[in-house]
Amino acid sequence: MPTSLDHAATTPPRPEARAALTRWLEAANASSPHAAGQDARTVVEEARERVAAAVGASPHDVVFTSGGTEADNLAVKGVVWAAGRRLGRTPHLVTTAVEHPAVLAPARWLADRGEVHLDVVPPSADGTVDVDRTLAALRPDTVLVSVMAANNEMGSVNDIPALAAALRDRAIPLHTDAVQAFATLHVDVAAWDVDALALSAHKFGGPQGVGIAVLRRGLPVEPLTHGGGQDRGVRSGTFATGLIAACAAAGDAAVADRADLRARLRRLSDRLAEGLLALDGVRRNGPGDPERRLASHVHVAFDGVDPSALALALDRAELIASSGSACGSGAATASPVLEACGVVGTPLRLSLGWTSTDADVDRALEVLTDLVPRLRSGAAVVG
Ligand SMILES: Cc1ncc(COP(=O)(O)O)c(C=O)c1O
Repeated sequence: MPTSLDHAATTPPRPEARAALTRWLEAANASSPHAAGQDARTVVEEARERVAAAVGASPHDVVFTSGGTEADNLAVKGVVWAAGRRLGRTPHLVTTAVEHPAVLAPARWLADRGEVHLDVVPPSADGTVDVDRTLAALRPDTVLVSVMAANNEMGSVNDIPALAAALRDRAIPLHTDAVQAFATLHVDVAAWDVDALALSAHKFGGPQGVGIAVLRRGLPVEPLTHGGGQDRGVRSGTFATGLIAACAAAGDAAVADRADLRARLRRLSDRLAEGLLALDGVRRNGPGDPERRLASHVHVAFDGVDPSALALALDRAELIASSGSACGSGAATASPVLEACGVVGTPLRLSLGWTSTDADVDRALEVLTDLVPRLRSGAAVVG
């Protein structure tokens, strides 16, 4: 049985989510006027209320999407397009070099098409985004700032409330990708005072293929999809009732369990980091202050270890982790996020989640303590 320390990539569905998905998989079309359709609609609207409560938002502001990627695209493209149309000229967008491709790719795509002027703020070496540096990129025609709540690679946590307060003074909307944050941090649209926020269910114990865009009332957004006009016309398409019900169930469970999970993962990740740092030539990346680092993430860099050999050896040892290299072409590619942060050495992200145990940490330490010296010496790796 493989050991997963890759919960930041996806974490298993919680029992509550499985039960809700099974219960509503065969729901009628929630937009149909007949009784069965209205029953399904009730499920969707109740899920919307629960999700809204879980993120401190109004139910009106919750849009169900196919995941974090669509939620980010909707915020970035939707707000830029709406602002461009309103202003009658190309608007300005500020984002950061540590964003997930779900934000950076649409931002660059818009810029390549001449639909936005784009500034990408460089991060600090620990992967956090400095508020003043972000504010320095603003222009009179800035229509959106998009800064993630927590980074998916290093787990660096940004001061979103401070940035939101500064932007509120300037009447500039803030979108935050809270996909990695939600499992262990209190995510609160109202308290943070953000205008748009993205979540993905499979990062907090829901199924893959469903996410949430919170788009606060008064924020003009062009839809990406046109059709039946569901979700206040912002996101047409038949409601995925089963996925939506499962997303809400996972959200409830994640919020109920969050404080305990955070404490448990902090203990496990500290133990994991301590064990790894006992090896020579290993550095922990990300903020030193635990308050600025997700409890779920341990990001390290090894000196003198070939990235492709590490990825292969971990696979053989059935230890699932993110080695930050794409081996599809046989060539390891560096992560743009780590490059932007100036991380040197061979990176490895180990991420924990709601099913993680001490045994998982023991296994990771056992495998890496054995592998790292052998990879350095060039000794053959045995599976
Ligand atoms: C920070 C962040 N944003 C967005 C996404 C995309 O979410 P999804 O997989 O639901 O499309 C991910 C997934 O890895 C992520 O980590």
